[in-house]
Amino acid sequence: MAQTLSKPRLKQKYRKIKITPRFCYFRSENLENQSDFATEISYSLTRKNKFIHPKFFYDEKGSKLFEEICVLQEYYLTRTELEILRSIKLEMANHLSGDYALIELGSGSATKTRTLLEILTRKQKSVEYYPIDISEILKETSENLQRDYDNLNIMGIIDQYEIGLKFIKKLSIQNQLIVFLGSSLGNFNLEENMKFLKKIRALMKENDLFLLGLDLVKDTKILEKAYNDSKGVTSKFNLNLLKRINDELAANFDLDKFEHVSLFNNEEKRIEMYLRSKEKHEVLISAINLALKLEKDELIHTEYSYKYTVSGIKDMAEKAGLKPVKIWRDKDNYFALVLFSIKN
Ligand code: AVI
Repeated sequence: MAQTLSKPRLKQKYRKIKITPRFCYFRSENLENQSDFATEISYSLTRKNKFIHPKFFYDEKGSKLFEEICVLQEYYLTRTELEILRSIKLEMANHLSGDYALIELGSGSATKTRTLLEILTRKQKSVEYYPIDISEILKETSENLQRDYDNLNIMGIIDQYEIGLKFIKKLSIQNQLIVFLGSSLGNFNLEENMKFLKKIRALMKENDLFLLGLDLVKDTKILEKAYNDSKGVTSKFNLNLLKRINDELAANFDLDKFEHVSLFNNEEKRIEMYLRSKEKHEVLISAINLALKLEKDELIHTEYSYKYTVSGIKDMAEKAGLKPVKIWRDKDNYFALVLFSIKN
């Protein structure tokens, strides 16, 4: 059954922006003030081990840099996942009996989404698509999509994943295909990871499906190159966090005094990304009244990117109450796409 798009009632203040009869989006008013950013930064940069949450990567500039990363030769993740998606179209279609609405977490530029939309828009009279993304890139992407698919209705949510999921829950959509691609789950720590999977599980009903893209453990050199590219785009992406703090919180970070660091922690099976202070110095973040002291070689942690094994994925699914229906991999075993249903 095709679903209709209705406005959920939430305590959080949302603004609905209608772009065309087939495309609207909701934007949390919280995103429009800087208080969350300021509060989080004043906490995370005053810990013994300083950190900046990776969700702050995705301002306009950061989102563009991430799109650039996705097409880098060394960053195999995006093209490998796309290759798998293209090769499983027929099989995927067979798993969808009846009409499905597509709910996507972190839709970004939606290149990979198109492979799924092609399946759905061909099979169904109409398709409801609910992209959830913290980045404003959602607007442009969705406008293009609804232009390209006549039977597609889009209701986007510009917000954090968790809040977007709460929003979706209120809609009680029948037959959901929830997708979370790009190994973005890997950017959560293990505790957040499980909590998040359980939230997705809680949203799922009998016929619902969840498609998850995960990067697999592989040779350290290949992994480290993917996060240390020769063109320096990942470095710019990482340093952009400091530029963002400069612009939005009136700080005076000198980007030349920092360098991008990324390494694979084999024990924890994760890429760790940091910004290293090249010298001892002080930075003023005026908006939060903070004089930040940095030692030479001090690290600011900015991201984890966990890598998975097939057995680890199965264990994780079991704990979260999810049943792997199918696991697809590319020929080199670089990346996995896993289709889950709920475990009864
Ligand atoms: C969004 N996420 C899955 C990317 C990753 O590979 O962890 C973010 C990224 N960071 C550096 N390069 C790409």
